[in-house]
Amino acid sequence: MASFARSVPKVSPAVARASARVAVPSRKYATAAAAAAATATNGTEPSLFHNEPAGPVIRTQIPGPQTKPAIDRLEKVFDTRSLNMMADYRASSGNYIADLDGNVLLDVYAQIASIPVGYNNATLLKAATSPEMASAIINRPALGNFPQHDWAEILETGILKVAPKGCNQVFTGQSGSDANELAFKAAFMWKRQQQRGGAHVEFTEEEMLSSMNNAQPGAPNFSILSFKSGFHGRMFGSLSTTRSKPIHKLDIPAFDWPQAPFPMCKYPLDQYAAENAAEEKRCLEETERLLTTYHNPPAAIIIEPVQSEGGDNHASPAFFRGLREITKKHDILMIVDEVQTGVGATGKFWAHEHWDLPTPPDMVTFSKKAQTAGYYFGNNELRPNKPYRQFNTWMGDPARAILFRAIIEEIEALNLVENTAITGDYLYQGLEQLQQKYPNEIQSLRGKGQGTFIAWDSPRRDEVLAKAKTIGINIGGSGAAAVRLRPMLIFQRHHADILLEGLEKIFKA
Ligand SMILES: Cc1ncc(COP(=O)(O)O)c(C=O)c1O
Repeated sequence: MASFARSVPKVSPAVARASARVAVPSRKYATAAAAAAATATNGTEPSLFHNEPAGPVIRTQIPGPQTKPAIDRLEKVFDTRSLNMMADYRASSGNYIADLDGNVLLDVYAQIASIPVGYNNATLLKAATSPEMASAIINRPALGNFPQHDWAEILETGILKVAPKGCNQVFTGQSGSDANELAFKAAFMWKRQQQRGGAHVEFTEEEMLSSMNNAQPGAPNFSILSFKSGFHGRMFGSLSTTRSKPIHKLDIPAFDWPQAPFPMCKYPLDQYAAENAAEEKRCLEETERLLTTYHNPPAAIIIEPVQSEGGDNHASPAFFRGLREITKKHDILMIVDEVQTGVGATGKFWAHEHWDLPTPPDMVTFSKKAQTAGYYFGNNELRPNKPYRQFNTWMGDPARAILFRAIIEEIEALNLVENTAITGDYLYQGLEQLQQKYPNEIQSLRGKGQGTFIAWDSPRRDEVLAKAKTIGINIGGSGAAAVRLRPMLIFQRHHADILLEGLEKIFKA
């Protein structure tokens, strides 16, 4: 195991203040696994984050007296009905999120899986306050027309340094939904170009005229196949591939695109290997049927390595290899949506590295922990045959790309992907023990061997999440009943102990 020890630059006074007001709790271990590993963790496990609070502190109800007026003020000008917790980010530090009332919570939700290396991370602060960043922010380029002179350098030393195998190019965007929609457009243009006979074949007059009327052949009836319970975003195109909850989709016109079943596996996956294999076979067969018979022919499929918003649904590597085989067979592109799974959380940099695919995915989309967004690809034919076909004003943002480069530096310097794999195994073992003790509270535990990308079903999920907040832990849910863990990459075994202890406290009460 690599050494985690490292000297970290001094943090801001705000962060230091937040840490100073945190009391160090005395440790009791929720599980035998936690207790057995205690010597190797608490006390001796070097912290990956300098000056991080030693544990949660709860001073008031949440929201407390300082926070309530701030929420009331916000409500007048901004919809707060989805508000989970109003935070004081300047006082937050590492794995801990703070509020205006001095409450400090261990955050295993991390801005919906989007904070990679801790609040107020010193390496990121350094990048954020560099002259290079200042220039990128105040002179934001329209990258398609006026790329800055060092854009290649920024990409090569950042986004492309961690490109998935088989990908050597990127199209950058603004968000996860944007990344997916850009990938869909690339797929459609690729498919039509194939039908037309190649990049050199000119558009016909009929195609050009009909495109202006949203009619065929200029606007072809192609589709993107997605999977039941999948989530790929909320913009117009991506929303048609999202199948997680009606609330996301109601009242919005949608494309007539096919939806294949995603395997409803039983957990633990290896214990139900035969049943799960049969279920995956059924889903693969139905996918192939839809790909070959759907009235709006699919140009691509899009799939998450772990269906996240839709309830943390897992499938086996064999299922994904099967999908790759089918897509290759029918000359349909495979887009892997790594918006939530990507950048280390599953114990690999990209979750699809767990699958051992015979050939790489055609496109891999990313956002969230990357703090920037886009799609990776390797096939030159996925570049449209003419300029301005895949284009917008900004086409990404060098400021965000510089930030991702700093995130990558931090991940590499601290071996954070390895840390996440190790911490995830430790946490999973602790949860297995809790599951044995409280089988009604932890059902269908899943995410074994997938870093900290762990979830389980709870018959009283929302109550568990609310109670967790009262004892200083911020946890999120997914789907109808899942408790979903999405800690940062600097989440360590001593944080896992705090989480396990907290959960046991809730289950006991
Ligand atoms: C797998 C996946 N794809 C796409 C998205 C959409 O990303 P964004 O909300 O940045 O548009 C999300 C967001 O949760 C996601 O989890």
